[in-house]
Amino acid sequence: MAFSYSEKVMDHFANPRNVGEIADADGVGEVGNSKCGDIMKMYLKIEGNTIVDVKFKTFGCGAAIATSSMATELIKGKTIDDALKLTNKAVMEALDGLPPVKVHCSVLAEQAIKSALSDYYTRQGIDPTPIVGDIGDHCDHCDHCG
Ligand code: FES
Repeated sequence: MAFSYSEKVMDHFANPRNVGEIADADGVGEVGNSKCGDIMKMYLKIEGNTIVDVKFKTFGCGAAIATSSMATELIKGKTIDDALKLTNKAVMEALDGLPPVKVHCSVLAEQAIKSALSDYYTRQGIDPTPIVGDIGDHCDHCDHCG
């Protein structure tokens, strides 16, 4: 299938921001897409209520790399509350859109952040479910994962 990516997607795919690991991360999340097998890992450094650093590793398609890169840019320096509100739609808009067949890749980025925040709360002895909600392994945008 032929489709084209925005310049911003190509830029974040070719020059992804915040790639790597944080050795003493306060929260680590890993999510995978059962359909394509792609995996995204997110590391958060949190001080007080602020995400002071974030890094990611994505073993996946170009759209997954671009969306995780943009997602890290959007939550770095922000509060936990802001990060929890970040939706895959906002990440896509920041990238000037994604082809419809690639929307599910952006869902992975949203889930990776929520998964890392769940880990953060769990480490604090706090039940993350009421705060972070159900991360889920599916999205509302397609019926790929069922
Ligand atoms: Fe797997 Fe994009 S095709 S995340």
